[in-house]
Amino acid sequence: MKNSDIEFQPLWDPAPDIKGYPTLDRDIEADVAIIGGGITGVTAALLLSKAGKKVVLLEQYRIGGGTTGSSTGNLYAPIGQYLSSVITVDNKKIMKSVVESRLAAINLIKSQIEEYKIDCDLQQVPWHLFCTHDDPSSLKEINNEYEAAKMAGLKIGNVVPLQFPFEAKEILTVFDQAQINPLKYVQRLAASLNVSFCQVFEDSQVVDVQEGSPCMLNTALGSVKADKVIMATHSPKGIFGVQASMEPKREYALAVKLKGELPAPAIYWDINKAGEPKFSIRTCKNSQGNYLLVLHEQHKVGHMDDSYTFPDPVEAYLRNHFDVEEVVYAWSAQQYSSIDKLPFIGMSPIKRNVFIATGFAADGLVYGTLSAMIIKDAVLGIKNPWEHIYDPLRMPSFSSIPKFLKHNYEVFSDMFVDFVSSHTTEIRQVESGKGKVIKINGSHLAVYKDGKGGIYALSAICPHMGCSVHWNGFEKSWDCPCHGSRFSKEGEVLEGPAYKGLKIHYIKKGLP
Ligand code: FES
Repeated sequence: MKNSDIEFQPLWDPAPDIKGYPTLDRDIEADVAIIGGGITGVTAALLLSKAGKKVVLLEQYRIGGGTTGSSTGNLYAPIGQYLSSVITVDNKKIMKSVVESRLAAINLIKSQIEEYKIDCDLQQVPWHLFCTHDDPSSLKEINNEYEAAKMAGLKIGNVVPLQFPFEAKEILTVFDQAQINPLKYVQRLAASLNVSFCQVFEDSQVVDVQEGSPCMLNTALGSVKADKVIMATHSPKGIFGVQASMEPKREYALAVKLKGELPAPAIYWDINKAGEPKFSIRTCKNSQGNYLLVLHEQHKVGHMDDSYTFPDPVEAYLRNHFDVEEVVYAWSAQQYSSIDKLPFIGMSPIKRNVFIATGFAADGLVYGTLSAMIIKDAVLGIKNPWEHIYDPLRMPSFSSIPKFLKHNYEVFSDMFVDFVSSHTTEIRQVESGKGKVIKINGSHLAVYKDGKGGIYALSAICPHMGCSVHWNGFEKSWDCPCHGSRFSKEGEVLEGPAYKGLKIHYIKKGLP
């Protein structure tokens, strides 16, 4: 199949009969303003409005259309970076609390599905972590995870099931986990909001937040005055200390049709090789049919090799294990992994009355829901049993310090290399169909030629904190390696902590 036949979008069907929401076009007031209409923001809106708070929810695009709608829909108690990695030398309590809190979040999702009669293809499935080779470190990782899961009291097994679709050498199974269609879930949840307490706005990008008492949020056409602000934006907008402790990464997903039967419904995590990104596989369906979905974390944001040809490596992996008939959907998403492997959830240490929820890595549906639970309690002045584990002000564990230093060394060396390296000074040296940062009269320009006569010349300086953006040839975007802001070829903010887009120097549109 040619790449041009693939639909570059997630496969999830939206919930039927969902109406859109208006754009904010006036000045309003609320107790709580929430930025971001993914699972974190919508769940927080629901919990707070049920508690009697007046809530305003602002989404830049469509409810559920960002990271939530690009996720796998898997709900599991373990974590992508492994439970065993959050056990400190003399403290197993944190790991146990992580599991307990994640189970509570999964239970909330299930109870909301029941309460609001949300048809989102919920099913109970096992979660399998396995490897298909005898690499000693992979075997050790699975054994460590087995011990951690046992310690946490999860219902587990280590026998390869009959007709397992991989030749597993070692396996850990955690029973009674779950899967949903994440887009339908979050859209239906938003539709369940009580309009007397919660106003929802789409196409309402927040361009500025002033912390304080009250806080002020501005969009292009309106503003919100609110006592509290929740940044449910994946990475908080603006400058926050936690951004120095998180690595932004792009991940890539495919949904394929198989020639034969699909494997049994389950969450399959192929550990791949120790230290390398794993493959996450599940079965799923939409109105067009049944698919096998695979997700693979590929590279740090802004570090994409121009020769990278997604979906080739992910497709090659699938074809190695299954009889693939056709690749139907392909898409990408972003994740932020914290250095100590736990998210940051709670009141910002540096901005008054602003709450953040970030660093979910690949575990965002459960952590997003948990964030809403913790922040709801904080807003209402209720002590939450897990707030201290995820406190953005927590001290980094000793073992995470080298990673923190390495990450920030890489950020600064990226910045240094980008600014002193010799760039071309000629726009004509930018190849057709490609983007490149060039230096003209001392200014760094991000130049893209679309191959149809169009030239897009923008400032290459990321407005977040001044790093230089890099061209992402596959997604045709300018990506910032420092904290993950991404911009369209026209310079608009696509995602990440930057509020403003790249400054436009010159744009000549090409032929359509
Ligand atoms: Fe922080 Fe670009 S995202 S400098």
